[in-house]
Amino acid sequence: MAKIGNIELGDFPLLLAPMEDVSDPPFRAVCKEHGADLMYTEFISSEGLIRDAIKSRQKLDIFDYERPIGIQIFGGDEEALAMSARIIEATNPDLLDINFGCPVKKVVCKGAGAGVLKDINLMVRLTDAVVKATKLPVTVKTRLGWDEDSKNIEEVAERLQDVGIQALTIHGRTRTQMYKGHADWTLIAKVKNNPRIHIPIFGNGDIDSPQKAVEYKNRYGVDGVMIGRAAIGYPWIFREIKHYIKTGEVLAPPTIDERIAACLKHLRGAIKWKGDKLGILEMRPHYSNYLRGLSHVKEYRMRLVTADNVGEIEAVFEDVRMQYAVAL
Ligand SMILES: Cc1cc2nc3c(=O)[nH]c(=O)nc-3n(C[C@H](O)[C@H](O)[C@H](O)COP(=O)(O)O)c2cc1C
Repeated sequence: MAKIGNIELGDFPLLLAPMEDVSDPPFRAVCKEHGADLMYTEFISSEGLIRDAIKSRQKLDIFDYERPIGIQIFGGDEEALAMSARIIEATNPDLLDINFGCPVKKVVCKGAGAGVLKDINLMVRLTDAVVKATKLPVTVKTRLGWDEDSKNIEEVAERLQDVGIQALTIHGRTRTQMYKGHADWTLIAKVKNNPRIHIPIFGNGDIDSPQKAVEYKNRYGVDGVMIGRAAIGYPWIFREIKHYIKTGEVLAPPTIDERIAACLKHLRGAIKWKGDKLGILEMRPHYSNYLRGLSHVKEYRMRLVTADNVGEIEAVFEDVRMQYAVAL
């Protein structure tokens, strides 16, 4: 039974990864509906929060049906992180996650995200500052290390646990790897099997099928897995993994009706959250994901990404339904 502070997550929880420009409330709603046990916001800049930047503020929007939900922050400055932890606490999430894994240059250059992997003492100080600033359970998400020669995650895990984090998610890549190659879970397993470690250890990287989730569960012994890219346009990954763990059987893929319903729920959520214009715009990159695997969808995709009102989008989906209900 995995537990973070007082948050009971059940056996082998499935976490939805924080993903910038993806893990927003409309996307989280469809993932929650299909079985995500713990979700995170996209990462939020601590400096942005303090400056009261609108973009950062908006990312703090969380809703009761999403619980348990964590808000993720990044930053390279102790005071800024502590201040933003207090701002976040006021919005009442279930936990606060610190990102020490983001490999993107604009973040790393500021000494935040994966940049901190080069300086464990700084990482520990930043974490300590956040733990001391808030009553919320603090968790960390990070990578194996900076590069092939500095995979320091075993030391990092012990030291972060010592300053009070309550769970650790490890993406099995280094910063230099970015998203290339395969995630290596052997070091994640080493952290999990370290007798000094008592906090939950969640594995992350490349889980994209129920079979792989179960294989990794058994092989690496982690307390749960975090799923990112495989959930984009395919929130059913969560229920498929759960079903496979429970029964050993592979659940049938979603029907065309289910795909359309999830996509329209996502769209309506986006409009409710961001307004008509922005909601429709921000939904455009998602259509090809929801239609993934269907043949000859180019024409529908083109119509969807040029439609500028909900009625038009619904009409395209009606055509999709007619075409594929027959074909399937
Ligand atoms: C589009 C995108 C945005 C991401 N944004 C974040 C983020 O805001 N915070 C974070 O900790 N990781 C972020 N990540 C990394 C993911 O959380 C995750 O660690 C990574 O995708 C590996 O998991 P996966 O193989 O299941 O996708 C992002 C990944 C993607 C693809």
